[in-house]
Amino acid sequence: MFVTISILLLIFTIFYTWYVKKKYSYWEERGVPNPKPSLILGNIGKMITWQRTLTDFFKDVYREYEGYSYVGIYNCLTPAVVLRDPDLISDLLIRNFDSFTDTMIEIADPIASIHPGFVERDRWKTLRREMVGNLTKTKIKGMLVHIEKVCEEMLEYLKRKNYCVKATDLSFKFTGDNVMACAYGLDGKSFITGTSLMEQIRDEMSMSTKIGSLFHTSGLFFPKLCKLFQISYLGKQVPDKFKELIAMVVTYREDSTYAYNDFANFLKESKQKNDDNYFGYAMSFFLDGFETSGYALIYTLLEVTRNPIVQETARKEVEVTLKTHNTVHSYEALKSMVYLDSIIHETVRKHTVIKFINRKCTKDFVLPAPRAGHGKPVTITKGTHIFVPIEAIHRDEKYFPNSSKFDPNRFFDEHIMESRPKNAYLGFGDGPRVCLGKKFAVVQMKMILVTLLLNFTLKIHEKTVFPLGKEFYHLSKSPKGDIWIEFLPRS
Ligand code: HEM
Repeated sequence: MFVTISILLLIFTIFYTWYVKKKYSYWEERGVPNPKPSLILGNIGKMITWQRTLTDFFKDVYREYEGYSYVGIYNCLTPAVVLRDPDLISDLLIRNFDSFTDTMIEIADPIASIHPGFVERDRWKTLRREMVGNLTKTKIKGMLVHIEKVCEEMLEYLKRKNYCVKATDLSFKFTGDNVMACAYGLDGKSFITGTSLMEQIRDEMSMSTKIGSLFHTSGLFFPKLCKLFQISYLGKQVPDKFKELIAMVVTYREDSTYAYNDFANFLKESKQKNDDNYFGYAMSFFLDGFETSGYALIYTLLEVTRNPIVQETARKEVEVTLKTHNTVHSYEALKSMVYLDSIIHETVRKHTVIKFINRKCTKDFVLPAPRAGHGKPVTITKGTHIFVPIEAIHRDEKYFPNSSKFDPNRFFDEHIMESRPKNAYLGFGDGPRVCLGKKFAVVQMKMILVTLLLNFTLKIHEKTVFPLGKEFYHLSKSPKGDIWIEFLPRS
């Protein structure tokens, strides 16, 4: 018996080693450079075992293979590609979008999965069309009055707080109340009551950063398995509190005789079509309008505060705009403040909020040789996973010299902008799947910036401890330490 088991084990081990070796020769046979895989988990072992974040892993891969336009990795035994070259990235995201229409993630939660970023081509087309209709210039113009009110409440809040608050607190109250007002037609009042329903919902959905990061990695690398076991890529399932909130919004709208033309009305009409997806549409706005934008805002406040020259230049632009437009809160006035745009883009570059883009190859595609002038083109087959390591590209000295410096001129000075490939900046993605809330995100950040710059000089309070450190997150990024900002009233 013992001998039989030993022989079977030996045969299995020989077969398995042969099989794994064969699988791991995939990239070598095609002349594609790749980091050495481990026996079972390929190159993703360190992320699964919390030794490295996905972002850092992509940074390592990106930096190690200078001179190559892409690198092969193994997701367990399955080959995947990490793109390095901005021109090739444009090729895949824009010019050959037809071969890369899908993303890799499959969300188990039926509500959170109604997000254009998580669905396959046909469903994506419909969702994207519907969502775009709610974020047009006209729709955003209609939202400005709500954001202006939130700004006023924020000013009162700062006064009550003796003009010293944490950037996180200010940012999430601001983006939370904006989503409540602009998307759900409600008054969030978090600056008045001090508590934010949006933050409560977020906290109910999130997990300890390490467990959450495990779920993110699993969702990315084992999407089918996660769907099967109902493991949500985003953390916990959407809480009942959120569903109750949206159901209340819709019931209120059904009872109302006034003809609204906003996102809450779109939710009402979606429900009337007998479509439970309206919770999902609402969640989609929550995820990006509140959370992603909140993270971006924390870092925008940090950089504007700790860079006095940038702060002064921005303030001058706001003051000039106030004189020429007679207001700083109209869509046209906001649009004209291009230095503020540069600040936002430079923040999203330096503190890349969404760390990498993912795509799934939906039609076989021929990549050029991994190194110009060496080797042969490589065919990647349908189903291959593709990663674009945005943060690593944003920190590449070739494209952004002195990359850890915060310098809005990178997006303001035309010569500097022309000196790098267009696609070296991917803070909002690119191609048909480019971020569809960019206009809204930029407008809400400009609204808070103009309000703060006109009223205060911003200063980092001594309670802030540098370096701030960062949480162990795979996807988004939040500083570990608190950023305390003092708002010194301007006469
Ligand atoms: C500063 C804030 C934001 C940043 C940095 C950001 C960044 C991004 C990035 C990098 C992508 C991936 C694009 C790609 O795969 O090529 C994306 C997709 C997306 N974003 Fe944003 N985003 C922000 C705010 C928003 C807001 C406010 C909304 C909506 C209200 C939004 C809605 C979406 C949607 C729906 C997608 C998926 C698009 C698709 O797959 O068709 N985002 N965003």
